[in-house]
Amino acid sequence: MERRRFLSLMAAVAGMPLVGRCARLANTPTTPTIYRSEGGLLAIDLTASLGRVSLGERSAELMTYNQQIPGPQLEVRPGDRVQIRFTNALDQPTNLHYHGLHLPPTGLADDPFRTVVPGETALYDFQIPDQHPSGFFWYHPHVHGLVASQVFHGLAGTILVRGKDEPPELQAAQEAVLVLQDFDLDRQGNVQEPTPPFRMWGRQGDLITVNGQLHPRFDVFAGGLLRLRILNASASRVYQLQLADHPWWLVATDGRSLAAPVAQDSVVLAPGERADLLVPGDQPPDSYALLSLPYDRGIAAMAKSMGQNHGTDTTEEPQTIATLDYAGTTASESGTSMLVNFPTALGTVETLPEPAIVREFVFDHGIDPETRDPFLINGRAFGHHRIDTQVNVGTVEDWVLVNKAGMDHPFHLHTNWFQVVSHNGQPEPLPAWRDTVNLRPYETVRIRIPFRDFAGKTVYHCHLLDHEDQGMMGIIEMV
Ligand code: C2O
Ligand code: CU
Ligand code: CU
Repeated sequence: MERRRFLSLMAAVAGMPLVGRCARLANTPTTPTIYRSEGGLLAIDLTASLGRVSLGERSAELMTYNQQIPGPQLEVRPGDRVQIRFTNALDQPTNLHYHGLHLPPTGLADDPFRTVVPGETALYDFQIPDQHPSGFFWYHPHVHGLVASQVFHGLAGTILVRGKDEPPELQAAQEAVLVLQDFDLDRQGNVQEPTPPFRMWGRQGDLITVNGQLHPRFDVFAGGLLRLRILNASASRVYQLQLADHPWWLVATDGRSLAAPVAQDSVVLAPGERADLLVPGDQPPDSYALLSLPYDRGIAAMAKSMGQNHGTDTTEEPQTIATLDYAGTTASESGTSMLVNFPTALGTVETLPEPAIVREFVFDHGIDPETRDPFLINGRAFGHHRIDTQVNVGTVEDWVLVNKAGMDHPFHLHTNWFQVVSHNGQPEPLPAWRDTVNLRPYETVRIRIPFRDFAGKTVYHCHLLDHEDQGMMGIIEMV
């Protein structure tokens, strides 16, 4: 791997304002309010409500956390206690799920079966485990049947865990969190209800926002190092992202560190997935477009056969969703510079032992005999009172995920992370932790899951949220 030296800005790291000779401040996309834990505690009030917010140059009637799109960013350290006093000011039930955090699925922690009724204030209270890895996670609602609609109305927020397990080069890098959301608004700025075929394909809108803005700009310092932390918080849209004419390196999948940076061309992010990308400021100072490339998740042919095109990507051109600018070199001017290496090693991704049990999960379309829902796992749609899978805490399992359908189905498991072992029998070359993996049409993906702790019931599902709402979810009990 190439080894280069880069300047980094300790001032930026320490959060002090930077004053270079060009007197230009770092341009980062407007970030939501950040709440950081203090003295081991993060105690906040969070309210979900429906109301008018501005979205780029438009005004829209959206569901928000604390009236922000996206919701506040929560920053914690391993071992911290988190107390969220959550008020549901919507006219429908909702709740909170902490996607990617390794938390008990029981009590007041990460229980997807808990609902908060309209008007209720409920407490979420949990501890981030001492051994929790650093990473980039998120929260969103999880009431079965309402998830797609609530997320598509804007409900999503980010969570950063900042531990001591990250290499100093990464800690020293500038950082920009980018939350990708898409909206389908009418002239009054109301979110449109999807047509029946769109509920099947997954609702998707033409308006793509980054941190609730239309094509924001963000900066990298010439000679500096920028870490982009990108979340796909859309209900159904799969993004294929490219930084035009500029190198970038994948350093984390679903928020968790790889062993070493991997050069990327484009990056595909299915709903729920995250990618951390390192952007070295080593190119000619200029502006570079962050592009959303057309991506067919298997609905183009179906849409065409029904004479529909809207929002299906087939007619879309690459879109610039944000722009990377070079900011003047201020490192030497501010007198606080430090030379850092582009990191060659990031950490270790441990090798998991061979599984005790191998299970198969078939993702397909059909009709559930009881609920009549059309999206099935192993022939059944979600049943609130049926335990589909029972596993033993303290074991490692392989799950073979078989997509028998002609559409992408991004598989997500709560509570426990996994590693992809193979795609269609081909060994996965990149050791990485994930909480979500996209199953392409007719693809078989084998994953390996360590169930180390936390007994209780939780769920796995397709993170195309209309599919989850229409049955593609199962219950796992860990005993
Ligand atoms: Cu982000 Cu069960 O989901
Ligand atoms: Cu989740
Ligand atoms: Cu699906």
